Amino acid sequence: MSMSTNTKSVVPIKKKRQVARRATNVVWHDLLLDKATRSQIKEQNPCLLWFTGLSGAGKSTIANIVEKKLNARHKHTYLLDGDNVRHGLNRDLGFTDEDRIENIRRVGEVAKLFVDAGIITIASFISPFRSDRRLVRELVDPDEFIEVFVSAPLELCEKRDPKGLYKRARAGEISHFTGIDSPYETPEHEHIILDTSELTAEQSADQLIGYMIVNGFIDNPA
Ligand code: ADX
Repeated sequence: MSMSTNTKSVVPIKKKRQVARRATNVVWHDLLLDKATRSQIKEQNPCLLWFTGLSGAGKSTIANIVEKKLNARHKHTYLLDGDNVRHGLNRDLGFTDEDRIENIRRVGEVAKLFVDAGIITIASFISPFRSDRRLVRELVDPDEFIEVFVSAPLELCEKRDPKGLYKRARAGEISHFTGIDSPYETPEHEHIILDTSELTAEQSADQLIGYMIVNGFIDNPA
Protein backbone atom coordinates (compact mmCIF):
# COMPACT_ATOMS: atom_id res chain seq x y z
CA MET A 1 0.00 0.00 0.00
CA SER A 2 1.51 3.26 -1.03
CA MET A 3 1.69 6.12 1.42
CA SER A 4 -0.22 9.20 0.37
CA THR A 5 1.86 12.34 0.28
CA ASN A 6 0.61 15.78 1.08
CA THR A 7 2.05 17.64 -1.90
CA LYS A 8 0.74 20.95 -0.59
CA SER A 9 3.34 21.01 2.15
CA VAL A 10 6.25 20.69 -0.27
CA VAL A 11 5.19 23.36 -2.74
CA PRO A 12 6.92 26.58 -1.71
CA ILE A 13 4.48 29.39 -1.23
CA LYS A 14 5.65 32.44 -3.13
CA LYS A 15 4.70 35.48 -1.14
CA LYS A 16 3.57 38.24 -3.45
CA ARG A 17 2.93 41.69 -2.08
CA GLN A 18 -0.74 42.48 -2.27
CA VAL A 19 -1.34 46.06 -3.22
CA ALA A 20 -5.09 45.63 -3.47
CA ARG A 21 -7.44 46.77 -0.71
CA ARG A 22 -7.80 44.14 1.92
CA ALA A 23 -10.03 45.77 4.50
CA THR A 24 -13.73 45.24 4.15
CA ASN A 25 -16.59 46.66 6.21
CA VAL A 26 -14.66 49.89 6.71
CA VAL A 27 -16.67 53.05 6.25
CA TRP A 28 -15.10 56.49 5.79
CA HIS A 29 -15.66 58.64 8.88
CA ASP A 30 -16.24 62.30 8.09
CA LEU A 31 -14.04 64.64 10.12
CA LEU A 32 -15.15 67.91 11.67
CA LEU A 33 -12.18 69.89 10.31
CA ASP A 34 -11.12 69.98 6.69
CA LYS A 35 -7.91 70.86 4.88
CA ALA A 36 -8.90 74.49 4.33
CA THR A 37 -9.66 75.01 8.03
CA ARG A 38 -6.38 73.42 9.06
CA SER A 39 -4.43 75.49 6.55
CA GLN A 40 -6.13 78.75 7.49
CA ILE A 41 -4.47 79.06 10.89
CA LYS A 42 -1.12 78.36 9.23
CA GLU A 43 -1.79 81.13 6.74
CA GLN A 44 -0.63 79.03 3.82
CA ASN A 45 -1.81 76.85 0.96
CA PRO A 46 -0.62 73.28 1.34
CA CYS A 47 0.93 71.55 -1.64
CA LEU A 48 3.16 68.64 -2.58
CA LEU A 49 6.59 69.27 -4.10
CA TRP A 50 7.57 65.94 -5.65
CA PHE A 51 11.29 65.67 -6.43
CA THR A 52 12.28 62.95 -8.89
CA GLY A 53 15.65 62.13 -10.44
CA LEU A 54 18.61 59.80 -10.39
CA SER A 55 20.56 59.03 -7.25
CA GLY A 56 23.22 61.75 -6.99
CA ALA A 57 21.27 64.24 -9.12
CA GLY A 58 20.89 66.51 -6.08
CA LYS A 59 17.27 65.93 -5.05
CA SER A 60 17.80 65.70 -1.30
CA THR A 61 20.32 68.55 -1.17
CA ILE A 62 17.96 70.90 -3.01
CA ALA A 63 14.90 69.67 -1.10
CA ASN A 64 16.66 70.46 2.19
CA ILE A 65 17.58 73.98 1.07
CA VAL A 66 14.03 74.58 -0.19
CA GLU A 67 12.58 73.45 3.14
CA LYS A 68 14.95 75.79 4.99
CA LYS A 69 13.97 78.72 2.76
CA LEU A 70 10.26 78.00 3.25
CA ASN A 71 10.76 77.74 7.00
CA ALA A 72 12.51 81.14 6.96
CA ARG A 73 9.34 82.45 5.32
CA HIS A 74 7.35 81.01 8.27
CA LYS A 75 5.86 78.23 6.20
CA HIS A 76 4.95 74.95 7.85
CA THR A 77 6.73 72.16 6.01
CA TYR A 78 7.73 68.54 6.16
CA LEU A 79 10.35 66.70 4.13
CA LEU A 80 9.92 63.04 3.25
CA ASP A 81 13.23 61.65 2.00
CA GLY A 82 13.76 58.25 0.35
CA ASP A 83 16.81 57.26 2.33
CA ASN A 84 15.18 58.20 5.64
CA VAL A 85 11.73 56.73 5.01
CA ARG A 86 13.44 53.48 4.08
CA HIS A 87 14.83 53.34 7.65
CA GLY A 88 11.33 53.28 9.14
CA LEU A 89 7.97 53.04 7.41
CA ASN A 90 9.46 51.33 4.35
CA ARG A 91 12.26 49.37 5.98
CA ASP A 92 10.69 46.16 4.65
CA LEU A 93 11.13 47.26 1.03
CA GLY A 94 14.06 46.78 -1.32
CA PHE A 95 14.69 47.96 -4.88
CA THR A 96 12.91 45.49 -7.14
CA ASP A 97 10.30 47.10 -9.41
CA GLU A 98 7.58 45.70 -7.15
CA ASP A 99 9.13 47.17 -4.00
CA ARG A 100 9.73 50.57 -5.59
CA ILE A 101 6.08 50.68 -6.67
CA GLU A 102 4.98 49.95 -3.09
CA ASN A 103 7.53 52.46 -1.73
CA ILE A 104 6.07 55.26 -3.83
CA ARG A 105 2.47 54.20 -3.20
CA ARG A 106 2.96 54.37 0.57
CA VAL A 107 4.88 57.62 0.45
CA GLY A 108 2.24 59.12 -1.83
CA GLU A 109 -0.45 58.26 0.70
CA VAL A 110 1.62 59.70 3.56
CA ALA A 111 2.27 62.87 1.54
CA LYS A 112 -1.45 63.19 0.91
CA LEU A 113 -2.10 63.06 4.67
CA PHE A 114 0.50 65.79 5.26
CA VAL A 115 -1.13 67.98 2.60
CA ASP A 116 -4.51 67.32 4.22
CA ALA A 117 -2.97 68.51 7.50
CA GLY A 118 -2.21 71.84 5.79
CA ILE A 119 1.52 71.28 5.39
CA ILE A 120 3.75 72.23 2.47
CA THR A 121 5.08 68.75 1.85
CA ILE A 122 8.36 67.99 0.10
CA ALA A 123 9.04 64.46 -1.14
CA SER A 124 12.44 63.41 -2.45
CA PHE A 125 12.43 59.98 -4.08
CA ILE A 126 14.03 58.58 -7.22
CA SER A 127 10.49 57.46 -8.17
CA PRO A 128 11.75 56.03 -11.47
CA PHE A 129 8.41 55.01 -12.98
CA ARG A 130 6.09 57.45 -14.75
CA SER A 131 2.99 55.46 -13.79
CA ASP A 132 3.81 55.77 -10.07
CA ARG A 133 4.47 59.50 -10.32
CA ARG A 134 1.13 59.87 -12.08
CA LEU A 135 -0.63 57.93 -9.30
CA VAL A 136 0.89 60.22 -6.68
CA ARG A 137 -0.11 63.30 -8.69
CA GLU A 138 -3.68 62.06 -8.75
CA LEU A 139 -3.77 61.62 -4.97
CA VAL A 140 -3.82 65.38 -4.36
CA ASP A 141 -5.74 68.22 -6.03
CA PRO A 142 -4.30 69.22 -9.43
CA ASP A 143 -3.42 72.71 -8.19
CA GLU A 144 -1.55 71.25 -5.19
CA PHE A 145 1.08 69.28 -7.07
CA ILE A 146 4.48 70.35 -8.39
CA GLU A 147 6.62 67.71 -10.09
CA VAL A 148 10.24 68.79 -9.81
CA PHE A 149 12.61 66.96 -12.15
CA VAL A 150 16.13 67.20 -10.76
CA SER A 151 18.10 66.51 -13.89
CA ALA A 152 21.75 65.52 -14.30
CA PRO A 153 23.34 63.12 -16.77
CA LEU A 154 24.04 59.66 -15.43
CA GLU A 155 27.77 60.14 -16.05
CA LEU A 156 27.78 63.19 -13.79
CA CYS A 157 25.79 61.45 -11.02
CA GLU A 158 28.20 58.56 -11.25
CA LYS A 159 31.17 60.89 -11.05
CA ARG A 160 29.73 62.60 -7.97
CA ASP A 161 28.79 59.25 -6.39
CA PRO A 162 28.29 60.85 -2.93
CA LYS A 163 27.58 57.52 -1.21
CA GLY A 164 29.88 55.33 -3.29
CA LEU A 165 26.85 53.35 -4.45
CA TYR A 166 27.48 53.66 -8.23
CA LYS A 167 30.94 52.24 -7.73
CA ARG A 168 29.50 49.30 -5.83
CA ALA A 169 26.76 48.81 -8.43
CA ARG A 170 29.35 48.76 -11.24
CA ALA A 171 31.36 46.23 -9.24
CA GLY A 172 28.25 44.03 -9.10
CA GLU A 173 27.87 44.41 -5.32
CA ILE A 174 24.45 46.11 -5.60
CA SER A 175 21.79 44.94 -8.04
CA HIS A 176 18.75 46.80 -9.38
CA PHE A 177 20.61 50.09 -9.20
CA THR A 178 18.79 52.94 -10.96
CA GLY A 179 20.57 53.97 -14.14
CA ILE A 180 22.80 50.87 -14.11
CA ASP A 181 20.58 47.80 -14.16
CA SER A 182 17.23 49.34 -13.27
CA PRO A 183 15.46 51.93 -15.44
CA TYR A 184 14.71 55.60 -14.84
CA GLU A 185 11.82 56.96 -16.91
CA THR A 186 12.47 60.63 -17.61
CA PRO A 187 9.50 62.85 -16.71
CA GLU A 188 7.24 64.05 -19.54
CA HIS A 189 4.91 66.20 -17.47
CA GLU A 190 7.18 67.91 -14.96
CA HIS A 191 6.31 71.44 -13.81
CA ILE A 192 9.91 72.51 -13.44
CA ILE A 193 13.32 71.10 -14.39
CA LEU A 194 16.31 71.87 -12.20
CA ASP A 195 19.41 71.04 -14.22
CA THR A 196 22.13 70.51 -11.66
CA SER A 197 24.81 70.18 -14.33
CA GLU A 198 24.23 73.92 -14.87
CA LEU A 199 22.92 75.20 -11.52
CA THR A 200 24.22 74.97 -7.98
CA ALA A 201 21.91 73.50 -5.35
CA GLU A 202 21.33 77.02 -3.97
CA GLN A 203 20.40 78.37 -7.43
CA SER A 204 18.12 75.37 -8.02
CA ALA A 205 16.34 76.00 -4.71
CA ASP A 206 15.90 79.68 -5.59
CA GLN A 207 14.41 78.72 -8.96
CA LEU A 208 11.85 76.52 -7.28
CA ILE A 209 10.96 79.17 -4.70
CA GLY A 210 10.56 81.61 -7.61
CA TYR A 211 8.26 79.15 -9.37
CA MET A 212 6.15 78.85 -6.20
CA ILE A 213 5.81 82.63 -5.92
CA VAL A 214 4.96 83.21 -9.59
CA ASN A 215 2.38 80.43 -9.54
CA GLY A 216 0.74 81.56 -6.29
CA PHE A 217 1.82 78.66 -4.06
CA ILE A 218 3.42 81.09 -1.64
CA ASP A 219 3.24 84.85 -1.27
CA ASN A 220 6.15 87.21 -1.73
CA PRO A 221 6.10 89.69 1.14
CA ALA A 222 7.86 92.93 0.25
S1 ADX B 1 12.83 54.66 -5.24
O1 ADX B 1 13.37 54.20 -6.54
O2 ADX B 1 12.07 53.62 -4.57
O3 ADX B 1 12.08 55.93 -5.36
P1 ADX B 1 14.24 55.86 -3.03
O4 ADX B 1 14.28 57.29 -3.41
O5 ADX B 1 13.22 55.43 -2.02
O6 ADX B 1 14.15 54.95 -4.36
O7 ADX B 1 15.67 55.43 -2.44
C1 ADX B 1 16.81 55.74 -3.16
C2 ADX B 1 18.04 55.79 -2.25
O8 ADX B 1 18.37 54.51 -1.79
C3 ADX B 1 19.23 56.31 -3.03
O9 ADX B 1 19.43 57.67 -2.74
C4 ADX B 1 20.38 55.47 -2.53
O10 ADX B 1 21.06 56.14 -1.50
C5 ADX B 1 19.76 54.25 -1.92
N1 ADX B 1 19.88 53.01 -2.72
C6 ADX B 1 20.30 51.83 -2.24
N2 ADX B 1 20.20 50.87 -3.18
C7 ADX B 1 19.72 51.45 -4.30
C8 ADX B 1 19.40 50.97 -5.62
N3 ADX B 1 19.52 49.70 -5.94
N4 ADX B 1 18.93 51.85 -6.53
C9 ADX B 1 18.79 53.15 -6.20
N5 ADX B 1 19.07 53.67 -4.98
C10 ADX B 1 19.52 52.82 -4.02
